[in-house]
Amino acid sequence: MNKVTSFLNDLIFKGKISGLKYIKLILSLVPLIALFGILFDHQLEKDFAKYGWHILIATLLIRPISTILPKLVILCRFMLIRKQLGIIAGTFILAHGLGVFLKNQMGIDVLFSAPLWDLKTFMGWGLIGALMILPPLLTSNDFLQRKLGKLWKSIQQISYLFFIFGGVHIYMYKNDPVILAELITWAILWILAWRKIILWAPAKNEKTPTSCS
Ligand code: HEM
Repeated sequence: MNKVTSFLNDLIFKGKISGLKYIKLILSLVPLIALFGILFDHQLEKDFAKYGWHILIATLLIRPISTILPKLVILCRFMLIRKQLGIIAGTFILAHGLGVFLKNQMGIDVLFSAPLWDLKTFMGWGLIGALMILPPLLTSNDFLQRKLGKLWKSIQQISYLFFIFGGVHIYMYKNDPVILAELITWAILWILAWRKIILWAPAKNEKTPTSCS
């Protein structure tokens, strides 16, 4: 086995990643980019929407894929940075929402107009979706995680509603079947993981972690 193959083998199937502590630290700083970026240039809101959406999908797929494909031990390592990725996705998408308001010079009073919240429009789904990410984001810090105990996990699960509302919002705006395919793929993978259907496991004699937390 040459060096590259052995490196990839260790990375993907043994989850050997060095400097995870530093990767976490760097990822914790990324949400600041969203805040400063959107205040500096409101036109960036579309980019934040696109990147935020894809980071959100990736974050929500780590757990089901690692259950279905335990052979990919690297996913157990990604589980350790899921919180940071979720915070990045949430802040990018909030920056997108804020950017839309700043770009169109809409005041806070617009939020009190009922038609804006109408679920017959893509804006209604986006706005309600954005509200849903607030509790998981505001409680995502270590202090509240310790204080809230079991309740913390339930609050974090609101992110799934955020994902669904966001998905419908984008689908209604773009009318793009890819978004629908993304939502359906995610639902199928979740059902497979929930039913504990394992498609690719390590061989019995392979030494790998028994579970990812
Ligand atoms: C405060 C809440 C929100 C507002 C006001 C809002 C507004 C908008 C508007 C006006 C557009 C049309 C194009 C543009 O100007 O960007 C749009 C597109 C989009 N939104 Fe939202 N949105 C909100 C929440 C969300 C959420 C919760 C998500 C995802 C979870 C999301 C993801 C997207 C994406 C990916 C696009 C398509 C961007 C593109 O490719 O052109 N938005 N949104």
